[in-house]
Amino acid sequence: MLRKPFIAGNWKMNMTAESGAKLIKELAPLVKDANCNVALCVPAILIPAMTQAAKGTNIAIGAENVHWADKGAYTGEISCEQLKEYGVKYAIIGHSERRQYFGETDESVNMRTLAALKNGITPIVCVGETLSEREGGITEKVLDKQLAEGLKGVENVADVVIAYEPVWAIGTGKTATDEQAQETIAYIRKKIGQLFCPKCAEKVIIQYGGSMNAANCKGLMAQSDIDGGLIGGASLKLDFATIVNFDK
Ligand code: PGA
Repeated sequence: MLRKPFIAGNWKMNMTAESGAKLIKELAPLVKDANCNVALCVPAILIPAMTQAAKGTNIAIGAENVHWADKGAYTGEISCEQLKEYGVKYAIIGHSERRQYFGETDESVNMRTLAALKNGITPIVCVGETLSEREGGITEKVLDKQLAEGLKGVENVADVVIAYEPVWAIGTGKTATDEQAQETIAYIRKKIGQLFCPKCAEKVIIQYGGSMNAANCKGLMAQSDIDGGLIGGASLKLDFATIVNFDK
């Protein structure tokens, strides 16, 4: 298999140590025979407890962000070293909520991405257009900039996971159609091919994110360029297992 599917949850600012551990215990037997890689990206404060809860399962624990510096005066931020101490394998970077509410830019996305790669943490780099950008016909232009600037200086692009998350589909219940998601993700792959090399682009895992759920996951995952999902709301419940088992 050229690209092993990858389904990741994004808990955002939800769950507690107690409810999170309970959910992982319930999910574990349901996802144990998955044919895809499985991860849950959780709030930083829950990482130690969720790592413990997921021990011995095929659920990897990821972070929702990571800072670029090794250490230092960056109040409220978390370093790669701190994540590695708990065996964290993935970090979401540049989620649209970070870009929208916390001033994340393509430049800071790039610095975080390079730091993660240097430390052996797989960055899940989020890109996507807003509704007005799509309606204004500039989706490709927006993606071009996010990809070129966000991935600048990356040596092996196949080490990066891309999450295409149209901002208008996140948490809105308004999923992109299978065709829209496929078309845009194919475009992203083509663009990565131009920025790096076409062969490398074939190896990059590109997820779809934005109101992906138990009902629509099969159709999305059947698209040739869609390699997985970044799941928000539906990762807070057992529906996540249904998505992980999309091929059964
Ligand atoms: P959603 O969130 O599935 O709740 O739309 C996806 C995301 O923001 O990663």
